[in-house]
Amino acid sequence: MLKNYLWIVGFVFIGLITAFYFGFHFIPYKQSSLEHDDEQMGIKDQIIIKFSHVVAENTPKGIAAQRFAQLVEENSDYRIKVEVYPNGMLYSDEDELDALIEGNVQMISPAHSKLEKLSPDWLVLDIPFAFPTYDAVSEAYEGKIGQELFSMLEKKNIKGLGFWYNGFKQMTSNDPLIHPADFREKVFRIMPSDVIEMQFHAFGAEAVPIPFNKTYQSLEKGEIDGQENTISNIYSKKFYEVQENLTISNHGYLGYVVLINNDFWKSLSPDIQAIIKEAMEETSDWMKELAKTINDQELDKIKENSDINIHYLTLEEKNLWLEELSSFYNSLDKKIRSDLVNEAWKIHDKYLE
Ligand code: LMR
Repeated sequence: MLKNYLWIVGFVFIGLITAFYFGFHFIPYKQSSLEHDDEQMGIKDQIIIKFSHVVAENTPKGIAAQRFAQLVEENSDYRIKVEVYPNGMLYSDEDELDALIEGNVQMISPAHSKLEKLSPDWLVLDIPFAFPTYDAVSEAYEGKIGQELFSMLEKKNIKGLGFWYNGFKQMTSNDPLIHPADFREKVFRIMPSDVIEMQFHAFGAEAVPIPFNKTYQSLEKGEIDGQENTISNIYSKKFYEVQENLTISNHGYLGYVVLINNDFWKSLSPDIQAIIKEAMEETSDWMKELAKTINDQELDKIKENSDINIHYLTLEEKNLWLEELSSFYNSLDKKIRSDLVNEAWKIHDKYLE
């Protein structure tokens, strides 16, 4: 009996020592590391930015989001914390725009093709073969087209912070895609963009919008025949494992719009806004070149790791594609503001090599 009693007292004593140790030693230590400086805010005052996106961390957008987060945190002396949620783990590409507008996340960076919900004018950036070089894409993003598109966002409780670069889109499929007739009656996964849909219809193909993170599965199960995407997305999501053919067509550009909830933006002080804008500019400049390198390197990795057939579209073949697209080109201004379409063709003519 006395023995049991001593055991119980012993347990209670050890329990109390442990509680005192953790209670009075570790917790104040944690707090002191956040509040050691009078200028620095405590954790309760930290501004949290939840930043959701749908691609892998090792892609141009994934890397840019991490770099942006690091710059904002360091330059604000950790007054701001940017929590990056990749791979659609928080919201899929179907839901992220609503989540942003409703303030469930503060930042997203969708492909601009996914902004048709806000205005069909965004689709000017999807016109196939309109922007033939990287400089042409930059001029579209940073010139009149980008400015006009950004000016429409505030009505929707969104502020556009800038564009991020990924790369030119290429076609993948089970069968080779060389001549326009190769597309006939095939089914392609697309991003939800009427212009991309019209592009495939012009070739006599079907187009189905499918969320990015369900594309691999749909290709694997044979529910669709092919898809278009950048090399970095084809590589990081392993689409090359479930497709036999890759056509390097550079027929369109996939880039991103970085968006922040406007109510949240307006609640930030001017110095915090300046830190975010500066980090955004620095990240975009840095990513522009890096995105090209990543896409080039990952094409080499696809060549090394798979036996997918790769075809580089020749100028003659491209001209056949353009012929097939001619009636679609003539109908574009029914969908998109004609001054924006004209501006796109101006850029096209300036940069066509
Ligand atoms: C896609 O849906 O194919 C892309 O928009 C994914 C991305 O964000 O790069």
